[in-house]
Amino acid sequence: MTSGIAGVRALLDPSRLEREPDDAAGYLDLLGDADDRPRTLAQRAMHNNFVAAIYQRWWRPSFAAVLGLGPQDEEKRDAVRALGLGGDRDGDGEQGHGRVLDVACGPGNFTRAFAEALTGDGLVVGLDASRPMLARAVADNAVPRAGYLRADARRLPFADASFDAVCCYAALYLVPEPFTVLAEMLRVLAPGGRIALMASRRPSTEPIRTAGTLLADLNGLRLFDGDELTAVLRTAGLVDIRQRLTGLAQFVNARRPG
Ligand SMILES: C[S@@+](CC[C@H](N)C(=O)[O-])C[C@H]1O[C@@H](n2cnc3c(N)ncnc32)[C@H](O)[C@@H]1O
Repeated sequence: MTSGIAGVRALLDPSRLEREPDDAAGYLDLLGDADDRPRTLAQRAMHNNFVAAIYQRWWRPSFAAVLGLGPQDEEKRDAVRALGLGGDRDGDGEQGHGRVLDVACGPGNFTRAFAEALTGDGLVVGLDASRPMLARAVADNAVPRAGYLRADARRLPFADASFDAVCCYAALYLVPEPFTVLAEMLRVLAPGGRIALMASRRPSTEPIRTAGTLLADLNGLRLFDGDELTAVLRTAGLVDIRQRLTGLAQFVNARRPG
């Protein structure tokens, strides 16, 4: 079984590393003390020890309620299905042995669910920029077939087509350059691989549209217009594009032709 940070290390592309990876904290750290402190209120919260400690149990469910999402367990089940994890993905008789990248994994709440859906030498890399979040991931969600990596989602340290499934939940609206992150996710997605996103959406009807926009602006969050994310996937040649709108959120998944 490929597991933990040894598995993550094996996936790194040496030509994309700006420093020697440090594994002292239980995850691989590629950022060190680089001064890339987040600017917005929402981003700063993700680098706070208290928020990281209460994220999985309190913060995420409260935020999910504001966005109009269902229970987190249902979201995880849907994400596992959308990414095609578990089961015999490629018809070669082996079950759930893919490489999965969970971008902006926070405390590893979804990373763990993905790892538990894999078997054999399957591996999930949970990637995040926040030390407090990754410390929680290592403490709470270190399971077989999961390994954590501190890196910037805008510069993924992997070779092209390295992953069979790539996921980004609840983060594209926080990142200042979400389309750079999405382009990177598409770059590392292998032929036949699947992508799943959960992001915000700007409601189309008033007065929720204005209220939602105000709330997002106040917190430094971005609301995506209806077709903004699906259009990127379509232009990149992905197929089977599905979008589900719910409250202030959208779930999008698609497949790269094999
Ligand atoms: C709200 S959490 C999402 C956690 C989990 N995916 C979920 O759905 O609950 C958003 C995460 O995005 C991370 N993040 C924001 N910008 C990032 C970047 N440029 N690179 C890596 N992680 C980033 C934050 O550190 C934070 O942990």
